[in-house]
This record gives sequence, structure tokens and C-alpha cells, in this order.
Amino acid sequence: MVEGQRNRISVIGTGYLGATHAACMADLGFEVLGLDVDQTKIDSLSAGRIPFYEPGLEEVLGRNLANGRLRFTTDYDEVTEFADTHFLCVGTPQRADSNAADLSYVEAAVESLAPRLTRPAVVIGKSTVPVGTAARVAAQFHAIAPAGEAVELGWSPEFLREGFGVEDTLRPNRIVIGTDSERVETVMREISTAQIEQGIPFLVTDLQTAELVKVSANAFLATKISFINAMAEVSEAAGADVMQLAKALSYDDRIGGKFLGPGLGFGGGCLPKDIRAFMARADELGVEPALSFLREVDAINQRRRARTIDIARALIGGGFAGRTIAVLGAAFKPNSDDIRDSPALDVASTIASLGATVTVYDPEALEKAQQAHPELNYAHSMLEAVRDAEVVLMLTEWTEFRDADPEEVAKVVAKRNIVDGRNALDATEWRAHGWTYRALGRP
Ligand code: UGA
Repeated sequence: MVEGQRNRISVIGTGYLGATHAACMADLGFEVLGLDVDQTKIDSLSAGRIPFYEPGLEEVLGRNLANGRLRFTTDYDEVTEFADTHFLCVGTPQRADSNAADLSYVEAAVESLAPRLTRPAVVIGKSTVPVGTAARVAAQFHAIAPAGEAVELGWSPEFLREGFGVEDTLRPNRIVIGTDSERVETVMREISTAQIEQGIPFLVTDLQTAELVKVSANAFLATKISFINAMAEVSEAAGADVMQLAKALSYDDRIGGKFLGPGLGFGGGCLPKDIRAFMARADELGVEPALSFLREVDAINQRRRARTIDIARALIGGGFAGRTIAVLGAAFKPNSDDIRDSPALDVASTIASLGATVTVYDPEALEKAQQAHPELNYAHSMLEAVRDAEVVLMLTEWTEFRDADPEEVAKVVAKRNIVDGRNALDATEWRAHGWTYRALGRP
């Protein structure tokens, strides 16, 4: 590694993960060059604009563009000239034809980077990949890079949550680095100095274990959500209240209350595709039964969407054809404009396909929703969306909806019917204002 290059890192792929990582690494004092093959993304980031909604990130980006520590490019030659430490942050979405992960962006990044590595280098993967990928990628670098085995690989999974990306990157709850190279471990320790000094656990594992930590963490979180949603199904059948149940469970600190929120279930670009890719990989490894429970986790999650629609149908007393429905929320969760596998939009578009006029409002995700679902109507405020609605479905728990005044909303709707898809509203208060309030898993 060239001495002057020590403080320099490159970040390849500038989506949610890469853009956040690049900006935060610059904020920690590193000189960072971010690369993406998408010129529009690079233009936007270079101009200080984040092409998605992530609270706090634009300030970090702006600050580090201004102080000169952060730049962006589409040119791989520039990247390999600039740095000897490279982070791979490209996306690994679900394949269109199966449950498995689509590794084409990882392959493309390796194929572009490797032939240009003429000096010793450290490459650290952060993308979520099926276990076994990192070892294969290491072999590819050794075979293709002119520097050969002097290109050393580590895998350091990223655990950031959208909406908390900056905080989770600067202060993660743990740092995991999978590698069998001492140099990679040393470089990763240097890069993580600020976090290690804060007492954040730093774990060194082999490549496979690091890859598995990531997918098993997401599988556990998905399982926890589906567990409480399964309890919601039972609660409804038995006349119990899943919110009281969840609260009572949460006091047992072996169980804990986080990710025990019953409702419409999980969506987004991570949990759904990660559990599916994990099952596909287990199948390849010959241990398919070990993860067959994740099929149930997925199925419970999908049933929440169907159940939400059934509740709305029952409230209007019949079919959806010709009815006027309002949907509050389009993002897969609040504080995000991400609509990938959004439960809210899935419900909205199913109801529209059954003949209803569905009007959607979301504080941040309208533009993306409109592009993906032109069949839906969109409003630019909550009150505009609910006008003349026979049922209002609250499907993403933005603060604006949690804080909505039931009396104000009542003034513009046709009927006071509300489905609280996230168990986020005060049922007593809404009922006190004459609303028929229904939620998943509660009487
Ligand atoms: C998730 C993980 O939480 C991160 O640790 C991980 O790094 C990330 O995936 C990733 O793999 O990149 P994220 O997709 O941003 O993060 O979203 P979460 O906050 O995990 O929420 C996922 C979904 O679960 C949302 O649709 C949310 O509404 C739902 N959820 C969450 C519930 O239905 N109930 C809960 O109690 C909690």
C-alpha cells in the first residue's frame, strides 16, 4: 500500500448503502471517492443531492463535498489510481426468475475493478451476499488482478436501517469483519478506530461466518415480526388483543419489545429478499430443511396484506367495485421514501385492481409510488387523500398520521371507517370521535 494512499478509500456503488457509507467515512476524516456506473446518480450526489430520502444524510454529504474530502466518479481508472482500499457496496436484489440473489452487480464490479489493481490492495465487501460468495470473489481477484494475491479480501456486512443510516454507520452496534488476512484486519481496525474507541464491539471471523451474520440477523428480525403477526392471527380468532400481548411479552428481556410490532408486516429492499435468498442458498448447500421455517415467516407476512384488505372489505360491507378508498402511506416504513416491496402499496394496488378508486398520500414517497403504480390516484396532503373516502387505511406509520386529529379527518370523509394497519393510532380516541376503528390482531 502506498503511504499517501492510507487515508484514502473508494466506495463502489452509491445506493442507500454506498452513498451513506461514503459520506460517513468522509465525515470520519477519510478521503473518499465514490463510484457508480449510473451517471445520473453521480451527478446528483456531486451536486449535493441524495437521490433518496434519508434524514441527516444530505447535511453530511454537503459538508464533506465542501471540505473536499468527498468526491464521486464513474471512472474505475480514477478509483484505482486514488485508493488502495476499496469498499464494495453494490446492490444484490432478488432475481426476477427465482428467490436467489442477483449477483450481477457484484460480478460487474469485480470484473471492472480487478484488472485495474496493479498495486497491493484491500477490498472489503459490504453488500449482502449468499454465503460462499466472498471466497469466490477472493479467488477472482487473485486470478484477474495484475497484483494477484497481493489483493486481499474481507467481508464486513452492514447493518444500517434506512431512516437511521447516518447514525447506524457512525455508531453501529457491532463491526464484523470476515477475513483470513492480517492486513485486511489491520486496515479495518484503522478505519474503525473512532468506533472501537467508543467501545463498539469489533469481531473478526472467517469470510463465511461474516456473510452468515448478516443474513441470519435479517432472518431473525423477519421471524420476530412474523411471530408477533402469527400471534395477531390467533388473537383475532380468540378475541384477544395482540398489542397487550406484545407488551406483556416485552417485559421478559429474553424476548424484548423491539421488532415485536404487530401489523401489516415487513417489506423493503432487505428483509423479504434476504430471507428468500437465504432459503435458496440453504437449498444449494443441501440444508434446505434448516430454513424451511422461513417459508412460513414469508407466508405469515404475506397473509397480513390479505387480512388488511379483508378488514377494509368488511367495513364497507361488500365488494370494492366503484368504492372510494384512501390509503395513508406508500413507503415500506416511515422516514423513508423506499417503496421496494412496500406492504402499503401492495394493499393499495390490490384494492384498486378490485375496482375501487384508491387515493394514496405519503409525505415522502409519492413520486416513486406514482412511477411504480400509475393505476393509483395520488393526493398531496392527508386531508385531500381522505376526501369522500368510505374507508381510510393507515398503512405506514408516519408521525403525521399518528398525530392526525380524528375530528379534522372526519369532516372530509364519506364514512368514518378506519383500518389501522400498523397499530399506531389511539383506538379509544378515534372511536370517541365516532369512527369505526379496526386493527390487525385486536378486537
Ligand atoms: C433492515 C434491518 O433492520 C437492518 O439491520 C439491515 O441492515 C437492513 O435491513 C439491510 O439488510 O440493509 P430496513 O430494511 O431499513 O433494515 O428496515 P427495518 O427497520 O428492519 O424494517 C423492515 C420492515 O419491518 C418495515 O416494513 C417495517 O415496517 C417492518 N416492521 C418492523 C414491522 O412490521 N414490525 C416491527 O416491529 C418492526
